[in-house]
Formats: sequence, C-alpha cells, structure tokens
Amino acid sequence: MSERKRVLTGDRPTGKLHLGHYVGSLQNRVKLQDEYECYFLIADLHMLTTRPTHEDIEEMRENIRQMVLDYLAVGIDPAKSTIYLQSAVHAVYEMNLIFEMLVTLPRLTRLPSIKDMARAANLDDESVPFGLIGYPVLQAADILMPRAHLVPVGKDNEAHVEITREIARRFNNLYGEVFPVPDVLLSDVPTLVGTDGKAKMSKSLNNAIFLSDDPKTVEKKVRGMYTDPNRIRADIPGTVEGNPVFIYHDVFNPNKEEVEDLKARYRAGAVGDVEVKEKLARALNAFLDPIRERRAQYEKERGLVEEIIYIGTLKMGEIADQTLDDMKRAMGLRGIWRNIERKARERMKQQTALPRP
Ligand code: TRP
Repeated sequence: MSERKRVLTGDRPTGKLHLGHYVGSLQNRVKLQDEYECYFLIADLHMLTTRPTHEDIEEMRENIRQMVLDYLAVGIDPAKSTIYLQSAVHAVYEMNLIFEMLVTLPRLTRLPSIKDMARAANLDDESVPFGLIGYPVLQAADILMPRAHLVPVGKDNEAHVEITREIARRFNNLYGEVFPVPDVLLSDVPTLVGTDGKAKMSKSLNNAIFLSDDPKTVEKKVRGMYTDPNRIRADIPGTVEGNPVFIYHDVFNPNKEEVEDLKARYRAGAVGDVEVKEKLARALNAFLDPIRERRAQYEKERGLVEEIIYIGTLKMGEIADQTLDDMKRAMGLRGIWRNIERKARERMKQQTALPRP
C-alpha cells in the first residue's frame, strides 16, 4: 500500500449540491486530494435507512449522477481520487455484519443523530428500522474498508466517527491490529446560512443556491435574499453582522475593497439593497463560472461520469476484498473455512463418485 495517508468521506445521494456543501466540505476535499489518497463514497445504502422504496431507489439514479457531476465540477479529480458506489461493493455488507457484533445497542440508540434522522424522516419510535439504528455501523464499514486514517465530516457525523474508532479499537483488541484508528477532521468553517437567513442552507428548506444553477437563477435567488428586515428604505442604517447577503459577500466575493465599501455604506444607510445584491450576484456567478464550465465538460461526454464511478468502484472492490480477507483471517473465520475446504477437497479427490445429498 502507498505511503500517503488515506481519507474517506462521502454523501448520501440526495441530489444536486449547493454552496453550503462547497463551503462546508467540497472545497476541503479538493485540497485534501493533493496530500492524501482520497476515497469519496456515494452512500446509497445509507439512503435506504430512511428511504427504502422502489421510487426512492429510482430517484437515486439521477441524484447520483448529479452529485458526482458536482464533485467533478468543483475539482475533485478522478485521476487523484477514487469515487465509488457503496452498494456495488460486496464486502461492505459483510463488514457491516461483523462490526455489528462490536458495538452495543444502547450506544447506538442513545445517539442524537439517529433520533434526528428518524424525526426528519417522520418516523416515530415504533417505526425506526433496525438499519437506521445501524447507520453508524455501516459508516464504520465504509471508513475501515480502505483503512482510512482521516474522516472529514461535519459536526452531525462526529459521533459516527467516534463509533468507528471504538469499533476499530475493539476489533484490534479482540483479533489483532488490522485497522488504524481513524481521526475525525471536523470542518472549521461555519455552516453557510440559507438565502432566507435560516441557519443552514438546505435543499429541503428551499433556501439553496446550487452549484449547477445558471446565472439568471442565481440573480433571481440573490434578489429574493433575506437581508436586514428593519431596513425598509435605503437611507436607514443597516446591520451587516449576521446579514446573509454580507455573509455571502465575505465568503464568495474576492474583491475585499468592494465588500468593505458596501458594508460601510450599508451601515451608514448610503446604499440600496439592489446594489449590494447585484454585486453579490456578480461575485457568485464569477465564482460559479469555472464550476459550470467543468460540469459542462464532464456532462457532454457520454458515459464519462459512469466510467469514473465504475472504475472507482472496481478499485474499492479490490481494496475491500483485501481488508475483508484480513479481517476473517485475524478472526479465525478464514481458517475454519480453509480447513473445511481442504478436507472436503481431499476426500473429493479420492472418491470419484462422491455421494451427494
Ligand atoms: N453519513 C454521511 C451523511 O451524512 C454519509 C456517509 C456514509 C459518510 N458513510 C460515510 C461520511 C463514511 C463519512 C464517512 O451523508
């Protein structure tokens, strides 16, 4: 295996990614791929924990494509990083089962994240599937599969990485050192507010600007953005702090002079919202342009996105088989099977006509 440390992270394929994803994780992933061996998973099995129907699965098909296009558009480079489809790697199902033995039920049921996901999916206590309780265990299988050292995630997933660490330690203690105990790499950038001023940009809240939005759509969304509600006229002094329009300016407008000038005039009641927003839309579109361009490049080549996922999945499949084999060997399961196989073959060789049940 190579010298570089390994990073694993990924997303449930819920659809197109937005500026919040960019700020919170994508940007960092693009940087990480130069220093680490990166694995990015499309967590379609995790989707099934709350959305298992046939329609849900059908919906994922396009969402997977859109999400991977976004990965590629922001600069995740398939020549450097491995993008793979979780459900197509057989070993993850097996690893998941073994890891289920290494964590207690109360440890999992106490996690606030599980409760949050149940609530978000409108599931009451009686309707929580076993698989949702096992969500972090499956995540541990993802992380330990390539023996990742680092797991970049948001706060909401921190506890799941902690469970993964416990499972890795428990496995190593019981059976011998197979896994590095992975570290969480928490995103240090604050969550990006929505266009409506709500704490978090989110597709389901309808307050997102997508990486794939065209310039007109961005202009329209910015025009409708929430600003200082007390400022009903342009000559009323406004508040910059916590104002989503200025938060976006700070994050996405590289022209700091322009931003400072707008802030000063806003505070003094000497600029209209229209100008502040027009300049923001321009900055956002300038930021998004190269992303749109790269997206279009990948999009126009028929089968390219699929090829990238396919090759990545085959690669992960090989790595996963190796890890699973090492696990079973360390546990002694492999030995049991090998012994059965050896004795059976010996007998089968001796007997030309083996009686079959
Ligand atoms: N739980 C992550 C999410 O909220 C997705 C995910 C699945 C993941 N497996 C992972 C993240 C492994 C990091 C590592 O969408």
